[in-house]
Amino acid sequence: MFFHGTSRVNEKGHLEIGGVDTVELAEMYGTPLYIYDVALIRTRARAFKEAFHRHGVQAQVAYASKAFSSIAMVQLAAEEGLSLDVVSGGELYTALAAGFPPERIHFHGNNKSRDELAMALEHGIGCIVADNFYELELIEQLASGRAVPVLLRVTPGVEAHTHDYILTGQEDSKFGFDLNNGQADEAFRRVMASPSFQLLGVHCHIGSQIFETAGFVLAAQKVFTKMAEWNKAYGFIPSVINLGGGFGIRYTEEDDPIPVSAYVDCIVKEVKRQAETCQLPLPEIWIEPGRSLVGDAGTTIYTIGSRKDVPNVRTYIAVDGGMSDNIRPALYGAKYEAVLANRVLGERTETVSIAGKCCESGDMLIWDLALPEAKPGDYLAVFCTGAYGYSMANNYNRLPRPAVVFVENGDAQLVVKRETYEDLIQHDLPFKAKVRK
Ligand code: LLP
Repeated sequence: MFFHGTSRVNEKGHLEIGGVDTVELAEMYGTPLYIYDVALIRTRARAFKEAFHRHGVQAQVAYASKAFSSIAMVQLAAEEGLSLDVVSGGELYTALAAGFPPERIHFHGNNKSRDELAMALEHGIGCIVADNFYELELIEQLASGRAVPVLLRVTPGVEAHTHDYILTGQEDSKFGFDLNNGQADEAFRRVMASPSFQLLGVHCHIGSQIFETAGFVLAAQKVFTKMAEWNKAYGFIPSVINLGGGFGIRYTEEDDPIPVSAYVDCIVKEVKRQAETCQLPLPEIWIEPGRSLVGDAGTTIYTIGSRKDVPNVRTYIAVDGGMSDNIRPALYGAKYEAVLANRVLGERTETVSIAGKCCESGDMLIWDLALPEAKPGDYLAVFCTGAYGYSMANNYNRLPRPAVVFVENGDAQLVVKRETYEDLIQHDLPFKAKVRK
């Protein structure tokens, strides 16, 4: 069993997080319930920031809010001095409503609408990560005399996932300007020729849940080679290189991530080396961690309900949520660890599979989990659900989305209310029978 952050077993044998008994939280707020260990989020944020600080380089650590966006989360990111990556009008609206400093917001997306871009410009956000030619056109139309700070998102032909990275030469991706086929050069010339843009530099993101540094090194090399070309040909001096997010976390014992500082050390070393080789001044280094800031800080508590034994095959234990609050197992085959929150140290006498309650056979949360004999009313705590859990939650089968609680130093704070049945129908309008003439 592996505990993250401030998780521990208390004297009652219950799972405690942030000094708060999770069984009491389940009883107070109902289940399913997302619980976030605020101290662990702070620890991760500080680890990233301090790693850059030790190297004495200018850097921004932008929290990729797609991993989990809410007013309180954005405020916590602000408090920790992070910047913020948003990918939609909705995430931008949340950030602004939370009072996040606009100048530290970076706006991503492969199909930003005119309205979304107008909103970003109106609020003077720090930077737009321009993704395609249509977007450049829209920005120009909306700029009205401003020089809009932009990064060009490029696809460097490096794709990384967990322990593998592949070189694709020309990347088959919906994101960004291709670095290898002339698209990035064309975008560069367009941006440089127009007074509507202030080109800060280049962005790339090579993938997610990455455990090795080689892909980041290679991406930095490719980006620098291009920036050096642009420097020679046009005298361009980049002030920013953004290497995206994707730093891996430990979901189960199969995962063995390196510490946050190891990614940063390697990125800084390579950027310094490249800047020197290419005879460019050292740019600011930006990164965009999502999962690695909030993933292992999140735990979901469910109430156990029905049980189905399929003799000689398996036992299904069903919980009161599922793919509606965590779609990752169904969508990606993602794996999780779990314990009974009310009997953490109980002897694990059986192997069961945890099913969700949605009407879909694929709605399984965990296959073959060793647990003490679980009874209806027991609480199941699934670890590491902090990233892409709530943010990808949905109302399939009209299940209300769960509440979110922050815990820290013995205090619990409700930060997202549970949806009610009334919430579910609030946008529905009655059917009007056609009026006969
Ligand atoms: N920056 C960019 C441009 C990205 O596209 C992403 C993630 C990130 C940063 C943050 O990546 P992270 O550090 O969280 O790995 N729903 C999937 C993950 C999708 C990631 C999309 N982009 C999942 O649940 O695993």
